[in-house]
Amino acid sequence: MVGVIWLFLLPTTFGFLFELTTPGSLNGEITNSRYNALLDIIIEERKERKQIEQYIGQLEMEVKKLTNITSKIPIILKDFEILHSELHTVQSKSTQFENCCSYYRNSTSKITMTMLNRIRNDIMVLEDKQTKEIAVTACATGDRYNNNSVIRFPNIRTSYGINTLTTLQTNGKFTCDKPGLYLIIASIMTHLSDAEYQIRKNENNLVYVRIVPRFSGDQIENHHTGTGSAVVFLSLRDTIDIHAVTDIYIHVGYSCLSIFRIH
Ligand SMILES: *[C@@H]1O[C@H](CO)[C@@H](O)[C@H](O)[C@H]1NC(C)=O
Ligand SMILES: *[C@@H]1O[C@H](CO)[C@@H](O)[C@H](O)[C@H]1NC(C)=O
Ligand SMILES: *[C@@H]1O[C@H](CO)[C@@H](O)[C@H](O)[C@H]1NC(C)=O
Repeated sequence: MVGVIWLFLLPTTFGFLFELTTPGSLNGEITNSRYNALLDIIIEERKERKQIEQYIGQLEMEVKKLTNITSKIPIILKDFEILHSELHTVQSKSTQFENCCSYYRNSTSKITMTMLNRIRNDIMVLEDKQTKEIAVTACATGDRYNNNSVIRFPNIRTSYGINTLTTLQTNGKFTCDKPGLYLIIASIMTHLSDAEYQIRKNENNLVYVRIVPRFSGDQIENHHTGTGSAVVFLSLRDTIDIHAVTDIYIHVGYSCLSIFRIH
């Protein structure tokens, strides 16, 4: 009877260890030693089963963890997708921003350039209006000039739109500060025989003028005025002067220089 009960309790895996065919069990009796052996086997089996259960439990945990991770994969993928699309949005926004900024930059620089050009033009028109008349008439004082000297014109009679007349007054050099085409007229009076002068641009001769011819007799009776003219284009800082090429005694009041811009 007992053997039958144990049979039920034992798992099938251990069934092969159970020898019902062994002698002594035929009459239904279990000897002490056999009973002990059987108990050992059962205890051993329980231990092993516990271990297996533990192992299975661990496996289950691992599988659960894996499942947790696996179940998170779609979430991670979704997050990744969201992140990706957000990145795309940010990128496109930054491109939009750049476009917008470059548009504003462009239009700002365009406006600035237009304004600048307009202002420049206005200034030029204003300047031109202000300096439409550029002219001066200045006269020499009674002085003796040696050959190879420049006649000064300290007495400004009229002046329009010229800022720099001091050089004309102090060393006889008219200095151009408004470029253009100029007409120069000089008339110099002296009584010295063979007196001559030049109208010069940048110290290069433009026109020779003989004032007094060769004469004989009383010098006082031989006053002459020699007039010369020249048309010349003057750039900024070009100079015009009246250059004595003989000894000349200049007569005050009769010796003047006029310079004016034609165009
Ligand atoms: C699996 O995730 C759930 C909640 O998401 C958590 O409660 C559980 O402890 C996790 N299991 C393991 C084995 O990490
Ligand atoms: C701004 O100007 C640059 C070059 O001048 C041009 O390549 C760009 O397309 C312009 N941007 C806009 C928004 O007009
Ligand atoms: C004036 O000076 C120049 C050079 O210095 C000379 O060639 C010329 O002969 C002089 N003229 C007279 C009239 O002395």
